[in-house]
Amino acid sequence: MKAKVTLAKEFRIGDIDKRIYGSFIEHLGRAVYGGIYEPGHPTADENGLRKDVLDLVKKLNVPVVRYPGGNFVSGYNWEDGVGPVEKRPRRLDLAWGTTEPNEFGTNEFLDWCKKANTECMMAVNLGTRGPDEARNLVEYCNHPSGTYWSDLRRSHGVEKPHDIKLWCLGNEMDGPWQMGAKTAVEYGRTALEASKLMKWTSPGIETVLCGSSSRNMSTFGKWEAESLDIAYDSIDYVSLHQYYGNHDDDPMNFLALTMQLDDFIYSIICTCDYIKARKRSEKTINLSFDEWNVWYHSNNAKFEKWSVAPKLLEDIYNFEDALLVGSMLITLLRHCDRVKIACLAQLVNVIAPIFTETGGGVFEQPTYFPFMHLSNYGRGSALLPLVDCPKYDSREFTDVPYLETIATYDEENDEMAIFCVNKSQDESMILDVNLMDFEGYTPCEFISMDGYDRKEENTFNDVKVRPHNNPVPSLDGKTLTVELKPFSWNVIRLKK
Ligand code: AHR
Repeated sequence: MKAKVTLAKEFRIGDIDKRIYGSFIEHLGRAVYGGIYEPGHPTADENGLRKDVLDLVKKLNVPVVRYPGGNFVSGYNWEDGVGPVEKRPRRLDLAWGTTEPNEFGTNEFLDWCKKANTECMMAVNLGTRGPDEARNLVEYCNHPSGTYWSDLRRSHGVEKPHDIKLWCLGNEMDGPWQMGAKTAVEYGRTALEASKLMKWTSPGIETVLCGSSSRNMSTFGKWEAESLDIAYDSIDYVSLHQYYGNHDDDPMNFLALTMQLDDFIYSIICTCDYIKARKRSEKTINLSFDEWNVWYHSNNAKFEKWSVAPKLLEDIYNFEDALLVGSMLITLLRHCDRVKIACLAQLVNVIAPIFTETGGGVFEQPTYFPFMHLSNYGRGSALLPLVDCPKYDSREFTDVPYLETIATYDEENDEMAIFCVNKSQDESMILDVNLMDFEGYTPCEFISMDGYDRKEENTFNDVKVRPHNNPVPSLDGKTLTVELKPFSWNVIRLKK
């Protein structure tokens, strides 16, 4: 099949906030214990941080990592995770039915962030706790010295404040599974007061209001409107969460789910702007898509109740999942004028691109690579390509373009990149890219992932599903022609 894409500098959607390439570490399963932290592991540093995992995280170039949950945060006493480790209590985690040893906490995570070249997006507990404990945590982390909480931090060996800029006001507070779940009005009031006190404690921080837990919730839409109506003036972002699975083994419908994702993002933008209009406000609320991924392979896994760091949510991803992850991130970039933060949930072991064996090795899941390409090469501003390509109908969606694409333009470094998924299972796509006013830009690299069985997975011994380089296509005048293999992930990089 044939397709055409036209690109011009004027097709700029917006600047890409680098935090759109964020991720997430929750105290859940083996994300922390046996994931990023494992004292005694052959690669562990003096603080027990696994260097083999850090190396793979650094290659992903993740600018922000949300912590410590997720559902976990709604029952978390942050004070349990600071100070001398031998004095820290073991607690039941009611979110996941496990035991939390609290060996790893706030300061250990902030140490990890430094080593991973990333920043922390800290979530506070607005489930079983409230504004008071939240503002204390902000004081502990961000106040220089001379107060109870800041001096406590210093007594724990952390002289300088962590200076955490971004804070989540709880997690999925409309979900009945959440400890301390609330109605929209209850939550709106709590979030408003928490955000207010947190900002008074540390001026300049930004806060994220919990949107509905997903588009499938009965509360979806109304929840956002009601809680935003209450907390609008004090908060900066509203959160979105969405996970997809190929439950019916229908790959064409699975890959079409980005149509729904696009619609979901648009409806939250509209809801924010509706409240803005009602308030005649000058302030615009942007979006924090702070949980997104494929999640379904591990749904029926069994584990021992109240054990420490059991194997939970350990999805082993395949090639078709990688194509959806790439397509989802392309969709987020198409909204980069409003989606400023996004977190691939999660980062290690728990529905994650990086997978470890406790005491053993580590490998990249197929989903690792599209994320890595976008995060490393998709910087600057995003351009909305004019696309002319064949479409298909799937079980739930009509007129699904076979081509999922976005282009990015990094003016400062004279670089461009075009990211494409060919969703056709059996046909190559001959793609003509018209580069309009990008004079002097020539292709320098053409990377792809293709030719795998859609169910192909990686293992500790064989990272089979991985990118490879292709001959660099040449330009004919302003037109670049590339062949996108059936069912493929593609990155075309250009330089001036
Ligand atoms: O990321 C796994 C879980 O999914 C998180 O704890 C929760 O916020 C969501 O339901």
